[in-house]
Amino acid sequence: MSLPVILVTGGAGYVGSHTVLELLNNNYTVVVVDNLVNAHKDKGADLPEALRRVERMTGRTVYFHSVDIQNKEELTRIFNHYKIDCVMHFAALKAVGESCQIPLTYYQNNITGSSVLLEVMKNHGVYKLVYSSSATVYGIPQYLPLDEKHPTGQGCTNPYGKSKYFVEEIMKDLCSSDPLWAIISLRYFNPVGAHESGEIGEDPLGIPNNLMPFIAQVASGKLPRLQIFGSDYNTHDGTGVRDYIHISDLSAGHVSSLKCILKPDYTGFMAFNLGTGKGYSVLDVLKSFEKACGKKLPYDLVPRRPGDIDSSYADATLSKKTFNWTATKGIDDMCQDTWLWQQKNPNGFKSQ
Ligand code: UFG
Repeated sequence: MSLPVILVTGGAGYVGSHTVLELLNNNYTVVVVDNLVNAHKDKGADLPEALRRVERMTGRTVYFHSVDIQNKEELTRIFNHYKIDCVMHFAALKAVGESCQIPLTYYQNNITGSSVLLEVMKNHGVYKLVYSSSATVYGIPQYLPLDEKHPTGQGCTNPYGKSKYFVEEIMKDLCSSDPLWAIISLRYFNPVGAHESGEIGEDPLGIPNNLMPFIAQVASGKLPRLQIFGSDYNTHDGTGVRDYIHISDLSAGHVSSLKCILKPDYTGFMAFNLGTGKGYSVLDVLKSFEKACGKKLPYDLVPRRPGDIDSSYADATLSKKTFNWTATKGIDDMCQDTWLWQQKNPNGFKSQ
């Protein structure tokens, strides 16, 4: 019996490509649609570079289509061509700061894109979807660790975070309207790291906004110094605390949740945290990275970044209970793998 066919939207991106690798390693057939807004494809190549490497690593085929999920006609063609069993939906814009400058672009991509996708799924009788959500939907934590019962949507301060919250709400309404729908929303904490081979990893556009890729570029000499945003937070050393999760643990979490949602009797909307349950401060991460790269890294303590919170970390027991997933890798693995990826690919997926 052949294994199910999974459509991965945004499969050429950071989380998407690592999940495609995990899906292929678990023998699923994988179809990817991606508009390449945040992925590199060499001139004349059939595949974005990340997926070309995934094919090489697995010896399996990725069925790739350069399609924007907002384009209903093109998406319909994909659903007509393949008999899709489940969708994994990653395609979205994700830069918090940028989302405050161009909110309409974020709402169109993330919300309109998701609703077009859901409509095309419904038209083709495909009712199972795993959604790439974020712990940002919890807003300012009312308590820690954050479990899935924590209120969402209150204190989401930027259009990116709101778009993740709104799409979850749309999905809840859809599941209430028709019991055929089965949707799992995975709320990621802070995904970092790279595949242990150093072949695929995070390839940010321009200067990184996030901590780990920024530190990696300081370590490689591309950026001069790290700026630590805020040293007066209510945390053990005054710098912000987050629940960093290794990208390979995160992608394994997707495949575990997929096995659960593919059960014929699984229906309705459920949200799950993907995190380790442990919090590390900016200085903790820096120290671990210094260990990985074998040198001291220069930094300045600067004022807080607007919209940041003191601490955020997960209660991930529901994912463990429901689909038997737990994170296995620690902060040192995350830093070592990021450093290997950075050294092997100083220009990300671009050859020069
Ligand atoms: N930080 C610095 N210097 C930097 C970058 C970050 O000190 O150059 C600090 C931040 O202030 C924060 C920590 O490092 O304390 C982590 O910051 P990131 O930007 O890496 O991550 P965030 O927690 O701000 O946001 C991430 C994702 C969002 C997602 C959120 C979920 O970027 O997409 O986690 O909680 F919504």
